[in-house]
Amino acid sequence: MKHESAILHVTGKAQYIDDLPEPKNLLHVVPGLSEKAHARLVSVDLSEVRAYPGVVCVLTAADIPGLNQTSPVHANDEPLLAEDLVQYVGQPIFAVVATERAIARRAVRLARIVYDELPALFDIDSARANGSPVVWRPLTMERGDAVSGLANAPRRLSGTVVIGGQEHFYLEGQVALAQPGEAGEMRVWSSTQHPSETQHLVATVLGRPHHLVTTEIRRMGGGFGGKESQANGCACLAALAAERTGQAAKMRLDRDDDMVITGKRHDFKIVYDVGFTAQGDILAVDMELAARCGWSADLSGPVTDRALFHADNAYFYPDVRFRSLALKTNTQSNTAFRGFGGPQGIVAAERVIEEIAFATGMDPLDVRLRNVYGTGTRDVTPYHMVVEDSISDLVMTQLAEKCAYRSRRDDICAFNATSRTLRKGIALVPVKFGISFTATHYNQAGALVHVYTDGSVQVNHGGTEMGQGLHTKMVQIVMHEFGLSAEDVRITATTTGKVPNTSATAASSGADLNGMAVLDAVRQIKERITGFAASKWQEAPESVVFTPDGVRIGDEMVAFRDLVWQVYFARISLSASGFYKTPKISWDAATGRGRPFYYFAYGAACAEVTLDLLTGENTIDRVDILHDAGESLNPDIDIGQIEGAFVQGAGWLTTEELVWDAQGRLRTHAPSTYKIPACSDRPHIFNVMLLENAPNREATIYRSKAVGEPPLVHGVAVLHALSDAIASLGQYRRCPQLDAPATPERLLRTIMQMQAYGSGGERG
Ligand code: MTE
Ligand code: MOS
Repeated sequence: MKHESAILHVTGKAQYIDDLPEPKNLLHVVPGLSEKAHARLVSVDLSEVRAYPGVVCVLTAADIPGLNQTSPVHANDEPLLAEDLVQYVGQPIFAVVATERAIARRAVRLARIVYDELPALFDIDSARANGSPVVWRPLTMERGDAVSGLANAPRRLSGTVVIGGQEHFYLEGQVALAQPGEAGEMRVWSSTQHPSETQHLVATVLGRPHHLVTTEIRRMGGGFGGKESQANGCACLAALAAERTGQAAKMRLDRDDDMVITGKRHDFKIVYDVGFTAQGDILAVDMELAARCGWSADLSGPVTDRALFHADNAYFYPDVRFRSLALKTNTQSNTAFRGFGGPQGIVAAERVIEEIAFATGMDPLDVRLRNVYGTGTRDVTPYHMVVEDSISDLVMTQLAEKCAYRSRRDDICAFNATSRTLRKGIALVPVKFGISFTATHYNQAGALVHVYTDGSVQVNHGGTEMGQGLHTKMVQIVMHEFGLSAEDVRITATTTGKVPNTSATAASSGADLNGMAVLDAVRQIKERITGFAASKWQEAPESVVFTPDGVRIGDEMVAFRDLVWQVYFARISLSASGFYKTPKISWDAATGRGRPFYYFAYGAACAEVTLDLLTGENTIDRVDILHDAGESLNPDIDIGQIEGAFVQGAGWLTTEELVWDAQGRLRTHAPSTYKIPACSDRPHIFNVMLLENAPNREATIYRSKAVGEPPLVHGVAVLHALSDAIASLGQYRRCPQLDAPATPERLLRTIMQMQAYGSGGERG
């Protein structure tokens, strides 16, 4: 089935929030931002702003009737509007409410703010040098004894890998529209991945109970984690403006403002120490994973935790210790981004593999295959969860065969031996990604299904649609269960008024959680219909079967709509709410032990690149991906997710670079300076395959597997293919210290490092 909104998307008829018909007297909100990274506010003179024609009012912290607090994790460290302290360049201090957006944008510039500047910390190194202030507790995961494991290992290497952040670059920027109702009601259309949290924070800011606030979202133009918590600011400011004026208010961030205000993927600096054998077997690993978190906690705690959960990627480490450091800095508050810290941990794990491969002279693929999780004594993670379903070996071996990795690597080595300016590289990298929210209570979902008397069905659930096809999958479940066609099933906007107390659509678990909740609701209705039919037709309930041709009752076939009409007449409810919670999971951060994941999703990618040694320019010549989506709910959508995620991952690790200046100002705040991949950057040959006959071992919805985030990791293969191309300069005996993003500049620096060592030199 194609995406339920495909036609609307391509004809431009899909409604995003800024497309909704505007209410009468709609006002527009534009925030006024801090120009200093860390300062006391000495005075904020807004008189000229207020006097500007067309300005209706100017909001400051003093206007907030409830709490000036929007921390998504109750850290109490995130004021909606700064009061007396600003902590990054771009922090909203006030908001202009005007009759037109252009007027509000002009008026914002008339503010006169006097700052008393304080020392500021911008990056991981300066934060560390200044006592390592943190926004979240450090986490330690430990199994065995890494210290003595390292000490006793026959060979040992240590190093550092720096991994840059990433801007979400959702095509639709942050936007919210708020409309006041009667008796204190507030309706907010918000481009949010987490409608319930948006509802709760709007209620907090307005000082009202949750039941007065409704949040609604039909679809986002992309979220990628950037609207998991960071949509709340727009929603709260729009609602505050609506509350103060009694009129509807909209806030839509300009692209530059969006990039300057909102948080991004965390950049990391990871220090590793690994002990291994001459045969390439890993014995012990110790890693410290430090992240730039920005000025507030936001989701940095769970993001740094997830980096640790994935710093093993697919590999078993006999003795291991991982430590996180969630550093506070005077920059945007970094947040969720597809993979949620996991991909950063995996980049470090793969650097460790490369180090061992080049130190031992082995093919990196052989080092990978030697160290993957197996059975028996080689199946326990650093967080003491047993990997029951490891198929990394199988997936890598299958992919290596399908894409002829071995022979192509030989060809590439031969090519590199004689090529002076162009070098080729190839890498085959696995992914093992844990599925579930590590905050256990998030792993629940609700749904609401109505069957109307004409046999048409409306389905609602707590998840949000951001392009990933969640709504399509939910419609498919209803169709499949009732035996209906796509036209018979309508999915509506996600709203807190229909399904309450929901979790963010995140951690890739949208379909897993909401799919089971939808199934629960549908099965309740089916049971009632079955009970009615069985008694009326005097048949056993087992002989009532919902088929695409109608409901078979014994030997008779009855149209779904006719049966439904009779059920209604018999005064039986045709509406049900469904609920689901993920079984088996638990996690205790204090001990660093548990089973945080219901299962793992697996895959592998093989990338081949050509690199110009004189300029650092490169092309991705070929990519083959084999990915495990279990019993895929929708292969077309899942392949689309894999393709998109790969490109997003490759962009993160190659062309996308965030640059802050010495004053802490983000200099890359538009597509002119921040380079996401263009169509022409996609692999010249791009083969994406789903792993076949691989139903989920766990009882997920129709034995499918989550697919949203894990394939982002396939982009890592490009980084390592580039690294492999550079390694050819040192006869593959020295590991290039290639950090991410591997921009042409960084590639050139690494090339020059390798050339300086001289070819064939042993590691010093
Ligand atoms: N795909 C599209 N087209 N747009 C998005 O914003 N977000 C990703 C992924 N795929 C995203 C996407 C992220 S970060 C997550 S967590 C999942 O989709 C969320 O949806 P799911 O749980 O339904 O897979
Ligand atoms: Mo995705 S980063 O979990 O929204």
